Amino acid sequence: MKYLNTVIIGIVVFAITISIFVLVFAEKGDVENKKNNLNNGGIMKTDDKIESETEYVLPPLPYAQNALEPVISANTINFHYGKHHKGYIDNLNKLAAGTEFAGLPLEKIITETAGKVDKAAIFNNAAQAWNHAFYWKSLTPNGGGEPPVALKIKIEASFGTVDACKKELAAAATTQFGSGWAWLVLDGDKLKVVKTGNADSPLAKGMKPLLTIDVWEHAYYLDYQNRRVDYVNAVLDKLINWSFAADNLR
Ligand SMILES: [Fe+2]
Repeated sequence: MKYLNTVIIGIVVFAITISIFVLVFAEKGDVENKKNNLNNGGIMKTDDKIESETEYVLPPLPYAQNALEPVISANTINFHYGKHHKGYIDNLNKLAAGTEFAGLPLEKIITETAGKVDKAAIFNNAAQAWNHAFYWKSLTPNGGGEPPVALKIKIEASFGTVDACKKELAAAATTQFGSGWAWLVLDGDKLKVVKTGNADSPLAKGMKPLLTIDVWEHAYYLDYQNRRVDYVNAVLDKLINWSFAADNLR
């Protein structure tokens, strides 16, 4: 009898140990999956809320820091990505910690805080984190040229020609007063060019961004000083990533 009791206790202890082990590792895996989603290049596909352990991280550049030379120097990328973009991520982590926004996808923070004066700080940093991740993907070494066919057809339907679309993008980028962004967006069924000031994003207005050009001075001043028009034209001719825009149409 005494032997039987010992065996039963042993089985119960073993079962409890295994259960704890499984629960701990399942939770760890879940948190890792959610963290991966949150930092998927700043483009959030999930609306999972994560209660703890989650930090926004600087997404990796999709190319080397010198890959966009000579249009954009490694020096500019070093400051723009390594200081400015990183700064927005760091600020966002401080602002989101302990609030209802902690761990939310950037897109959700942007749409939920847009236009709210008391939420301006978290909106600005979440939007700038998203905008920059999207900007890096909007550029590519050996970019420019002709868009993929599906996008080209859509561009021609909305602007007449690819050149006309580029001219509209250049006009938006060069006439944006002060800091901001020029965008190619899908608005309903039509492509449009829009510009936004400071951190503002077409996401906040229900439009779907396809590509963007950063026209904050930190994006070009080290290479072009006040010649924003030269930076914009060089980006459109040599770096713009039409394939990325085409992928965003889907
Ligand atoms: Fe920037």
